[in-house]
Amino acid sequence: MQIFIDSADVPLIAALAETGLIDGVTTNPSLIAKSGRPIFKTLEEICALVPGPVSAEAVATQSAGMLAEAERLLAIAPNIVIKLPLTQEGLKACRVLAARDVRVNVTLCFSAVQALLAAKAGASYISPFVGRLDDNGQDGMELIREIRTIYDNYGFDTEILAASVRHGGHVREAALAGADCVTIPPAVFTGLYQHVLTAQGLEAFLKDWAATGQSIV
Ligand code: G3P
Repeated sequence: MQIFIDSADVPLIAALAETGLIDGVTTNPSLIAKSGRPIFKTLEEICALVPGPVSAEAVATQSAGMLAEAERLLAIAPNIVIKLPLTQEGLKACRVLAARDVRVNVTLCFSAVQALLAAKAGASYISPFVGRLDDNGQDGMELIREIRTIYDNYGFDTEILAASVRHGGHVREAALAGADCVTIPPAVFTGLYQHVLTAQGLEAFLKDWAATGQSIV
């Protein structure tokens, strides 16, 4: 499973990239706004930090505008992936870009039929928002399972990118459901290392070791 960081915070992404476990980054207009920094400079810096895909979202609502924005965003770096909303206009632009072998991440997916349309439009990634579905009283992970089944039924190679992830349980369930990728906030990534029994076990090992008076180096 590929792990992406869902953030536009360059210092945080830089620190996490040092783990060697980060395959890519996803951004969105809200995350860029939260960073308080200019979009092009921010994306350029992020693209230099990770070798894999960096999703940059268009903000136009008509396909012509999305395509114009895509040109500007694609010029930033070779690892830019264009993120487009799951609307009729977004999928029109997706088809045009996919025909040129430009990778598109179709975002704001909340239903399996939306995901079916995105795959037919040639999306490289589909981003179902599991957390926001849960917040809405629905089962976000069920959507991942449905998309997995549909994509496997028809041999679509669009990758399922579980998004709007709120905790490690979402990562676990997405992996079990066969999501290809997950994008997670930095704090959720750090939390994936942690287990109370790991901490307790390490503390006990170190205490017992200290009592021996030995050293390894
Ligand atoms: O980047 C898209 C998605 O991950 C947003 O998550 O937490 O704003 O629902 P959230």
